[in-house]
Amino acid sequence: MTLVDDLKALRQQAQEHIEDRNADLEQLRIEYLGRKGQLTKLLKGMKDVPAADRKTVGQVGNEVREFIANTLAERQKQKAAAELDRQLAAETIDVTLPGSSPIQGQTHVLQQIMDEIESHFLGMGFQVIDDPVDSPEVETDEYNFERENLPKDHPARDMQDTFYVTPEILLRTQTSPVQSRVLEKHDFSKGPLKMIAPGKVYRRDTDDATHSHQFHQVEGLVVGENVTMADLKGTLLSIMQELFGEKHQIRLRPSYFPFTEPSVEVDVSWDEVTPDTKPEDIRWIEVLGAGMTHPNVLKMDGVDPEKYSAFAFGLGPDRFAMLKYGVEDIRQFYLNDVRFLSQFNRKGN
Ligand code: PHE
Repeated sequence: MTLVDDLKALRQQAQEHIEDRNADLEQLRIEYLGRKGQLTKLLKGMKDVPAADRKTVGQVGNEVREFIANTLAERQKQKAAAELDRQLAAETIDVTLPGSSPIQGQTHVLQQIMDEIESHFLGMGFQVIDDPVDSPEVETDEYNFERENLPKDHPARDMQDTFYVTPEILLRTQTSPVQSRVLEKHDFSKGPLKMIAPGKVYRRDTDDATHSHQFHQVEGLVVGENVTMADLKGTLLSIMQELFGEKHQIRLRPSYFPFTEPSVEVDVSWDEVTPDTKPEDIRWIEVLGAGMTHPNVLKMDGVDPEKYSAFAFGLGPDRFAMLKYGVEDIRQFYLNDVRFLSQFNRKGN
């Protein structure tokens, strides 16, 4: 065997090794081309080659080196490409799979009801008072009670158990004080006053299925010349029909509030009422108090009761929501359990 044969055999062997799919290419490079590798070993035999043949043999040696180096490089490239293909295949994203959409927030169900009430009254030409100056939640005893015809020793104060901050400052028990705050500033030369005041109120009640120490009211007040009980009835009927439709019945009961005379309470049937429903089977739930504003209240707000008359009402959005959605426990509205709240997803939210 000549050195040339040995070189060709080495080239053949190297090619087979490199093409083996499990080949460790770096290892092979060292083994064949390294300083102590097989090619170097063979070329050490050059000294025994006759001088005349050395050039040719040297060329073969160079070709073999080049061949092995190229084959290694080529194989290296193939392996990298194959690895990339494998990775791409493994990490393919199926864009046709349904995505997981993030949970989207929504308006609280009570706010939804209040928005509905607001837009109804806005359509009837009422103004909405909900800024902290005219509708503060921390109120004075004067506006919450005295201006509402409830002097300090009035027994009807017991109807509304109160959180006092100081003897003169309290958490408002009703939205009625907003009536006085707005009425005392009203300029009648610009027309009658028609307002609603939605907001939070507070009472020292023990929480149960129908009571919460904090709940909502929407106050209403209309003051003008010749405002009558018929106007009050018409107004209440229209908002009830808006919110409940024809299927729930409404009942007016004479009632008592110190700031209205006469006073009524309005109940709505808990269930839908059909012609077959026996009157004694109807369950009623009180949703609002209302009445013709007491002359004392008008006087305290600087309005002449001889010239002007007024009606007022206080709606309970929490109770409306209970009725509308068949919720039997008011506390559900205040637990902020997303599973409960997400049921009331108003269209467009
Ligand atoms: N403020 C009364 C309450 O909280 C409701 C009401 C408002 C009644 C206006 C009559 C007129 O019970």
